[in-house]
Amino acid sequence: MAHKSYSFTHAICRKPSRSIVDGLRAVDTGTPDLDVFAQHHADYVRALRSTGAEVTVLDALEAFPDSVFVEDAALCLQEGAVIMRPGAPSRLGEAAEMAPHLEALYGEVLRIEGDGFIEGGDILTTEREILIGLSARTDQAGVDEFAKLVDRWGYAVRIVDTPEGVLHFKTDCSLLDEETVLATKRLDASGCFDGYKVLHTAEGEEACANTIRFNNLVIMPAGFPRTRDQLVAAGYEVREVGNSEAAKLDGGMSCLSLRFSPNA
Ligand code: GLY
Repeated sequence: MAHKSYSFTHAICRKPSRSIVDGLRAVDTGTPDLDVFAQHHADYVRALRSTGAEVTVLDALEAFPDSVFVEDAALCLQEGAVIMRPGAPSRLGEAAEMAPHLEALYGEVLRIEGDGFIEGGDILTTEREILIGLSARTDQAGVDEFAKLVDRWGYAVRIVDTPEGVLHFKTDCSLLDEETVLATKRLDASGCFDGYKVLHTAEGEEACANTIRFNNLVIMPAGFPRTRDQLVAAGYEVREVGNSEAAKLDGGMSCLSLRFSPNA
């Protein structure tokens, strides 16, 4: 049976721009190496394609340093897509750049048009609901507008908190299957996953909480062996992809793609 929260026919990625060196970051841990970033990005796209999905790779956008992180510009559901309103001023324009690509694939593309802000990185879609973490990038007004828009498609939205100092809600969690999430202990402690099975990232490996379940694969950043071994032991087919350069910009596996099955 196909699961709407992790069975996907399509993905959209965008090549990293040279301007990525000016991308936003909470702490400066060094300048991303463009060649290594490009190599990791190609490996990531290859992993998505290996599941049989059709993956579109858009050209780099030099005007938007963070535009490789396409997830923040839109939220894709089966019934339609919603163009976000990113809370980082330097990223606002990324949403309009993404709209035509989704309009080409979806019958219905809606937009956040009010004063609120919301980024895709704060949204975890599970089989039964949509969880949205309030954060420095996503505010109540943005969530309220989003919830009204997706109500027409029958989605329940639940607001949760993003841990202090964490960029996005999904920086600290991922969906693994219809009943299981991977999360840091600090996020799980908030109780936001009550009713789900939760696997915790290994101690000291919190930076790998942002993975993606994409069809048969759990795609996770390389370099977190204890969490990888837990996932393999739990029966998941794990693919590791280098993420050292995106991590310098607080980016992870979910940030690098929009994943969807339009009008399935
Ligand atoms: N560098 C990714 C972001 O801050 O949105």
